[in-house]
Amino acid sequence: NEYFHYQQDQLFAEGVALSDIARRFGTPCYVYSRAALTDGYRQFDEALKSREHLICYAVKANSNLAILNLFARLGAGFDIVSGGELQRVLAAGGAAGKVVFSGVGKSEAEMRQALEAEILCFNVESAPELDRLNALAGSMGKVAPVSLRVNPDVDAKTHPYISTGLKQNKFGVAYTEALALYRKAADMPHVRVTGMDCHIGSQLTETSPFIAAAEKVLALVDKLAAAGITLEHLDLGGGLGIRYDDETPPSIAEYGKALLAALQGRSEKLIVEPGRVLVGNAGVLLTRIEYLKHGEEKNFAIVDAAMNDLMRPALYDAYHAILPLQKRDDPAQRYEVVGPICETGDFIGHAREMAVDKGDALAVMSAGAYGMSMSSNYNTRPRAAEVMVDGAVAHLIRERETVRQLYAAEKIVA
Ligand code: LLP
Repeated sequence: NEYFHYQQDQLFAEGVALSDIARRFGTPCYVYSRAALTDGYRQFDEALKSREHLICYAVKANSNLAILNLFARLGAGFDIVSGGELQRVLAAGGAAGKVVFSGVGKSEAEMRQALEAEILCFNVESAPELDRLNALAGSMGKVAPVSLRVNPDVDAKTHPYISTGLKQNKFGVAYTEALALYRKAADMPHVRVTGMDCHIGSQLTETSPFIAAAEKVLALVDKLAAAGITLEHLDLGGGLGIRYDDETPPSIAEYGKALLAALQGRSEKLIVEPGRVLVGNAGVLLTRIEYLKHGEEKNFAIVDAAMNDLMRPALYDAYHAILPLQKRDDPAQRYEVVGPICETGDFIGHAREMAVDKGDALAVMSAGAYGMSMSSNYNTRPRAAEVMVDGAVAHLIRERETVRQLYAAEKIVA
């Protein structure tokens, strides 16, 4: 894309050569383009501008404070799924009044924290959750704003691990039970029904499942209205996919247009919860080749990033393009790009044709979403540094972890 591009034979992020970043900050290292992040957000805002809307960025996709702060300054709200994410949003300067809280397992402590902060809405996913919230809000002398997450039973046609809107999934209130639960909520003294939401899955590459879900949600909104329950907002979740390889997802503009068309004639405020599409292609993971190992059947490029840094290939067999930071003229060879972790599942890419040598640095593309946020310390590997490029300047936005930090909270038993 335009933010990560070759100049002569060197891969750049905006105006900075990625090989300079690799040298200066070391590898593995996540690099984000501020312009790409800003541009994605603005495209979304633009696509929905003809109606009242709030873009609640799904924090789980990438929760670095610098990124949250950037979105907050652009006017974003946030979709959170834990008390930890709420704390991050507030630390980054996000407004609690623009936060929606999703997730099937909100603890009492998390609910309390969110009630104290006075978030915009709890996306409630079950009857027992509603009971807990009502009781807790009552004990705090508060009224909790509530939306029920309805499971529209729509096939998102995406990877089964990230498909959430089918009735066999754990998410949301069953479509057939939603009306009854809304009636119950409307009678509760310490909750206020303000909206309805759904989220059917992630990395969707077609608009039709979004529209099918919206239509089912709207049919339910009409039933509620007939029962005297009116809503202030409709939250259609996130899930718009990006291009990793040869996918052809709808553009943000096309997606926005389709949503607006489905909502025509409705006065409720629209909330969306995009994650991946705002950050995925705005970030790359830099890694360096430690060894080239020529096996009997396969050649391996053993790199210094591993499944703990980027879990998506190991977990979903996800594809991420891998590009050299400095192109070579030599003939390409086919490599298995693998990390140092002691698991066969520890790979970054299979069968990649690359002209590379030991010591070369590579960029794992489209790594801005669910990369750093899903990273771990497996094999006692400190998590990567994170850098944000802004024009010709590279800012360190998270220091590389140290091993000492990893065991600082541990105690030896005498
Ligand atoms: N809202 C809710 C309630 C969600 O559960 C999610 C993502 C989103 C919004 C944002 O979805 P997005 O726009 O990013 O698709 N780790 C997986 C993706 C898991 C998505 C979980 N929920 C991956 O690496 O592909």
